Amino acid sequence: MWNAGIAGIGSYAPERVLTNSDLEKMVDTSDEWIRTRTGISERHICDADMATSDMAVKAAAAALEDAGVEAADVDMIIVATVTPDMPFPATACIVQDRLGAGKAAAFDLQAGCSGFIYALTVGSQYIISGAYRNVLVIGADALTKVTDWEDRGTCVLFGDGAGAALLHRVPSGSGLLSFKLGAVGSGADYLKIPAGGSRLPASADTVAERGHFIKMEGNEVYKFAVRIMGEAALMSVEEAGLTTEDIDCLIPHQANIRIIDAAARRLGLPPEKVFINVQRYGNTSAASIPLALKEAVDSGKVGPGSVVVMVGFGAGLTWGAVTLRWKE
Ligand code: UT7
Repeated sequence: MWNAGIAGIGSYAPERVLTNSDLEKMVDTSDEWIRTRTGISERHICDADMATSDMAVKAAAAALEDAGVEAADVDMIIVATVTPDMPFPATACIVQDRLGAGKAAAFDLQAGCSGFIYALTVGSQYIISGAYRNVLVIGADALTKVTDWEDRGTCVLFGDGAGAALLHRVPSGSGLLSFKLGAVGSGADYLKIPAGGSRLPASADTVAERGHFIKMEGNEVYKFAVRIMGEAALMSVEEAGLTTEDIDCLIPHQANIRIIDAAARRLGLPPEKVFINVQRYGNTSAASIPLALKEAVDSGKVGPGSVVVMVGFGAGLTWGAVTLRWKE
């Protein structure tokens, strides 16, 4: 028997950096407020001519190279995003063409900042069932394209980026050991872009009302995140037949340092077992977990055989956690 595991990973963040002191010149905020309330110092942001697929292609190409797999051998591409290049077609189709992955099925998956965890879980099922050999899972978002730069409650939080993982068969006992996914749809209003869909189609009024930008009830999302992150991670670890003592590295969604600290406390993990890079990227939505995973691997915090727990929450409100054993 076999399981689904990560054969290669890649990530990409735009070159342009926006610092807290840059933001001080744009809205009524301060470096001190942003750092103490969120842990963020700077974030990478797309230039005007860069879209989500541009970042996704770069991350995906790096993941394929890391895995030693040709684009032509990819069976399926899943792009987790809330900022597709356009409402349709799927960004995954654009990525498929640009990569030269002509035989791959391609679709987008929308689960907010939990998108990468959802996509990893979905993609894994095709490997585990034996249907496919190579599944490319990408988390990519350009939230700064839908950020209201006049709203200090949100504009200091977000950044852009992409991360990708190539899934393939690994021996059972390795790879994805467990997953837990969930959603609390009653919280849908807490984090949304209200206009531009079938409920409130784009019009001069929706533009004037700034309805195409992110709206968030930060406190509500915060309370949900603090409760669910530790809980979800714990459920996933237990589902894998492990305990928190077995965790080598926690890779949490990088939204806010206080949320990450709360999750680490709930799990009783020492700081060296928790990977944090929110200070340099801000909240990059579906890209945040794979961006962190890539850096955790590069820095040696995740190594051969490591037990890695990835956990996220986001718009929906969604949540998800996976426990995996890193390749030997
Ligand atoms: O991936 C999921 C995406 N969403 C999230 O992760 C968001 C989760 N929520 C959070 O991270 C936090 O709720 C925030 C960072 C958004 C806000 O932190 P908070 O500690 O909950 O602050 P608050 O909203 O309670 O606001 C406290 C004060 C308010 O002023 P008053 O009413 O006390 O005078 C805000 O107006 O801070 C003010 N404030 C700011 N001040 C300076 C809000 N944003 C800013 C800002 N700069 N950027």
